[in-house]
Amino acid sequence: MKLTPGAPFIPLSKEGALTIPTRLRRLRSKKTLRGLVQETLLTKRDFVLPLFLIEGQGKKVPIASMPGIFRYSIDQALEQIQAYFDQGIGTFALFPCLPHEKKSWTGKEAFTKHALIPKALTFFRRFVPEACLIADVALDPFTSHGHDGILGENHEVLNDVTVHYLAKMALLYANSGADMVAPSDMMDGRVLRIRQMLDEGKSHNTAILAYSAKYASCFYKPFREALDSAPAGDKKSYQLDPANQREALLEAHLDEEEHADILMVKPAGMYLDVIQSIRKQTKRPLAAYHVSGEYAMVMAAHQQGILVAKEAFLEILTSIKRAGADLIFSYALDHVLGELL
Ligand code: PBG
Repeated sequence: MKLTPGAPFIPLSKEGALTIPTRLRRLRSKKTLRGLVQETLLTKRDFVLPLFLIEGQGKKVPIASMPGIFRYSIDQALEQIQAYFDQGIGTFALFPCLPHEKKSWTGKEAFTKHALIPKALTFFRRFVPEACLIADVALDPFTSHGHDGILGENHEVLNDVTVHYLAKMALLYANSGADMVAPSDMMDGRVLRIRQMLDEGKSHNTAILAYSAKYASCFYKPFREALDSAPAGDKKSYQLDPANQREALLEAHLDEEEHADILMVKPAGMYLDVIQSIRKQTKRPLAAYHVSGEYAMVMAAHQQGILVAKEAFLEILTSIKRAGADLIFSYALDHVLGELL
């Protein structure tokens, strides 16, 4: 059934006689009919669940600004993964939350073999081999200054040195069992270097999900609280200016040329125009990250009785998919899971 809007309510034919009005409401009259003509469907396969990991055993630590979201020790995270997997959620994005003493100026814990993420990947790979595991590649969880890269003398983030270390990190994660590595740092040229390093290291089957259009957004604040990774200063010298769309298209184009397998826009809800434009430009799958602040905002409104979380999340996530995202990273999965196909 094709819906054609635009006819006037009581149109006149050429002769001036009344013709039949267009009644779009006909197809909205009951649920089954509405279902028949629904254009955008959210399914379990569309989603990626971000998981925050901590050291230790038997730990589940709440995150104040993100009600319902926790940091888990590896054993507890495994239980989560198994439970979600049984409910049809197959993909998980892992983020490490390090204690202060493991953070350093250069973030060297990021390339340490038996560190939290390599350990988690090895463990999850063994017990849930069918799950798809995405490992984030950036230095901010590991650096004492909270930036995604290595700092130079004037505290500027050094591009090319950082790219080298990100590639090392990506290879370590690939060797530990990641199905995908996801550079979220916004350094120039990192996708190509990571691809080269992975291929040289015989990890040619490990995919790269590139955070291509990652904006310098205030909506990452709860995430930075979760990881204790608030940066000294801001990230505007590497993340995109929220005012720019053409630049996002360029970033996406370059990442594609550098052999990114999946592109991403982040945040999602405020950047639907960017999602739509990149969707039109590329034949690659496109991801969108419904970020921590977008989650926290709805939860805060829900807790004050202003909005109903489930309704708000369903509408927001549907909008993100309607704009053109093929897959969505979201913390809101628990609220919408019952409604997903
Ligand atoms: C850092 C990173 C960030 C997020 C994912 N990876 C924050 C940042 O760039 O400071 C944000 C995710 C969220 O807010 O949910 N490499």
